[in-house]
Amino acid sequence: MATISTPEYLLDQAKRRLIPTLNNMPGMGAIEKRLRHREWKQFALAEPPPGSDLKPVMGDAGLPVLGHMIEMFRGGPEYVLEIYNTFGPIHYAYSPALPAVVALGPDATQAVFSNRNKDYSQKGWHPVIGPFFNRGLMLLDFDEHMHHRRIMQEAFTRTRLAGYVEHIDRVASQVVANDWVANDPRFLFHPATKELTLDIASMVFMGHEPGTDHDLVTKVNNAFTTTTRAGGAIIRTGVPPFKWWRGLQARKVLEDYFAARVKERRTAEGTDMLTVLCHTEDEDGNRFSDDDIVNHMIFVMMAAHDTSTSTLTTMAYHLAANPEWQERCRDESARLGDGPLDIEALEKLETLDLVINESLRLVTPLPMNIRQTVRDTELLGHYLPAGTNVVTWPSMNHHLPELWTDPEKFDPARFAEPRSEHKQHRYAFAPFGGGAHKCIGMVFGQLEVKTVMHRLLRQYRLELIHPGYKSRLDYGGMPVPMDGMPIVLRPLR
Ligand code: HEM
Repeated sequence: MATISTPEYLLDQAKRRLIPTLNNMPGMGAIEKRLRHREWKQFALAEPPPGSDLKPVMGDAGLPVLGHMIEMFRGGPEYVLEIYNTFGPIHYAYSPALPAVVALGPDATQAVFSNRNKDYSQKGWHPVIGPFFNRGLMLLDFDEHMHHRRIMQEAFTRTRLAGYVEHIDRVASQVVANDWVANDPRFLFHPATKELTLDIASMVFMGHEPGTDHDLVTKVNNAFTTTTRAGGAIIRTGVPPFKWWRGLQARKVLEDYFAARVKERRTAEGTDMLTVLCHTEDEDGNRFSDDDIVNHMIFVMMAAHDTSTSTLTTMAYHLAANPEWQERCRDESARLGDGPLDIEALEKLETLDLVINESLRLVTPLPMNIRQTVRDTELLGHYLPAGTNVVTWPSMNHHLPELWTDPEKFDPARFAEPRSEHKQHRYAFAPFGGGAHKCIGMVFGQLEVKTVMHRLLRQYRLELIHPGYKSRLDYGGMPVPMDGMPIVLRPLR
């Protein structure tokens, strides 16, 4: 059952998440404000080579031990926008979780994502999620990455996606109709959607029919959740009983599960992604080894899960807050009716496309992308030594007033002709990243989100718990509404 009463939910959050708890503490707002307005001592990250006309990257270390963690976790892209406005596109901002140069604005994003001279590797991600998502596609580099991506691409063709949509629709229709609770202001949209997207993953990725293999699915889902959470651990050591250690144990459970399933699926037929990956090969006949499939499956499940959950949650909030857009989307859904969905039908939901884009702009599920320089290089005329972490913030670009009219306003029409504000710069809008590592699951994610939202809009009217309600986001990992985002579901019939 997906209703979670608010006090229990908050207590659970408090136990699990130290940063949100600190965030909620009285007085934190004032502390954050003081930190943001303090003038920190600036220093050069490294001196450029003599004779070069490069500038050093200037920056500061913030508070002792904590660096800029408080401002970063509380403010997310809003804080980064302040850095951009004060210091410009390239700045060094220390945080013990990730000492890094921030590369801000669409030009810096383009330089890093397009990675013309192969100066930036994915190694920047390793300390954050490496041990739990070892050899996932996003963590591979250069030729090896291209080799794996070409094979994996075969699991994302239109024919394959059509098979996944069928599975997604079956689970979404069932859960939205039977498990979600109507007329209850305690219904929390974010955890309910997280559960739903995990149910969808069990079916689409692993081939477990809803309601079957209950104990096994629960064990795998729990291991998956523990592994994903471990990346946000504060004490980052493989010693029991810490979260990091629990994440490593859980990863082992997932490895054993997928290794056994790969053996079974190599000789079986099926349209779930695990079976597909067991059979796909690129144009030259290259295939994945058993270990590759295990690593890719664990990563893909993570990549697909919180991102889709976040997008759906932001959409539900804005549709509830903007009933005229909700009605426009519902009218389009009504034209499709309640029959089974396919890709062609979903493509007709064009207003929903605008709402998805606007939701991804306002709350970008992966707010930042991390890279590491493999050699001394330059970025927009600044000197970067080898081994520097570089973080791009597409989510900040999504709020720049020079690119977007009234950036904080929910205004999906900005993505439609003739305005097309997203086309002002190639990297004005990059919620799925760009370059060689651009999200391989982009279309999959859009189809999943549309399927769930279509089923939801056919069944319920979405309402805010009170006019003017807003949820505060925790930016400690992917943006998560701290209160779980209560939304009231009013049955339409
Ligand atoms: C709204 C949903 C989603 C968003 C916003 C999103 C966002 C992103 C972003 C920004 C990246 C690039 C990271 C980087 O450059 O460092 C990425 C990569 C990736 N995503 Fe997604 N994603 C979503 C859904 C999905 C889904 C549904 C899947 C799988 C079914 C998926 C699988 C992947 C994979 C495998 C990569 C790594 C690609 C590579 O390195 O070549 N994503 N995603």
